Amino acid sequence: MAFLWNAWYVAGWPNEFGEGFTSRMILGKPIVFFRRANGTVAALQDRCAHRHIPLSHGQRKGDVIECAYHGLQFDHTGRCIHIPAQNEIPERARVAAYPVVEKHGWVWVWMGDPAAADESKVPDFHWLGDPAYSATGETKHVAAHYELLHDNLLDLSHVGYVHATTIGNNEMGSKGQIRVEKLDNGVRVTRWVIDCAPPPTYCKTGIFQPTDRIDRWQIIEYEAPSSIRIYVGGAPTGTGAPEGNRVGGLGMWVMHAMTPENDVSTHYHWAIGRDFHIGNDEVTKILHREISTAFEQDREILKIQQDSLIRTGFPKGVDITADSGGIQARRILAQLIANQEKAASP
Ligand code: FES
Ligand SMILES: [Fe+2]
Repeated sequence: MAFLWNAWYVAGWPNEFGEGFTSRMILGKPIVFFRRANGTVAALQDRCAHRHIPLSHGQRKGDVIECAYHGLQFDHTGRCIHIPAQNEIPERARVAAYPVVEKHGWVWVWMGDPAAADESKVPDFHWLGDPAYSATGETKHVAAHYELLHDNLLDLSHVGYVHATTIGNNEMGSKGQIRVEKLDNGVRVTRWVIDCAPPPTYCKTGIFQPTDRIDRWQIIEYEAPSSIRIYVGGAPTGTGAPEGNRVGGLGMWVMHAMTPENDVSTHYHWAIGRDFHIGNDEVTKILHREISTAFEQDREILKIQQDSLIRTGFPKGVDITADSGGIQARRILAQLIANQEKAASP
């Protein structure tokens, strides 16, 4: 499986990692997580070095895991520290340990060379933990390759079709012109739709009525390997929103962290941070339900797409203008993975 290893991936939400074991497949590797006595999260290969029983079937002895089968014990660095009835511990008796950080409201795991793990490289999703915004989110398991999610999020012309009942309206696809810009480690896709109806979700916030006309924006930033930040919103038409005056409107940062489970499925972590009705739990609930329903609609179409690709042998499709962002993102990631493979070969 071709993945970019030297990168941070979201493992999950802080409350998913406690005293007990949380077992998760990430980039095709089984990992067991647990919170140590000092409060930090440890991540070890979830497969005993002896006879491959998942360590998550074992039990904790403080910060040490004792395997359920023959009782080998591994510390939080992955080193075997005890073998019953044996004094010598072979050098190979160890399991991989993965660096973990908690940042921006998520728990991140570094899947590559531990020596290269650099906390400053965690993608910016600060809106999730910033009190200036009201945030909510969840994780969905999507039965599709993570790049199909990238394509989906970088081409929002689908919102008028897949999301007609939630965040879409058919003017988004038919009127919006996109601009695609290359970034250092990614790509930005900007779409403005001037003088359109607000989508159902925006009306449910109470800020807009269905009869209003708004200028609507979607600014999508992809950062390799698998982060997407989307700034969306709308303001009354003709009041200068494209020039930066967004008074009387609403804005939301929609955060997406796609963590590949393997080649055909993805842990899809999403969150929204909004700059209006701060602290209003009722609005948070409405938006959570709306966005979650919208992403459920994506989940369904992506599963159908992945199934179709598998059944028909991954044929090449025809490209349209709306694909520009997704195509560039794929190129950037493919290049990074190729560089990684070049660096690793002797
Ligand atoms: S399989 Fe883990 S101790 Fe034997
Ligand atoms: Fe969507």
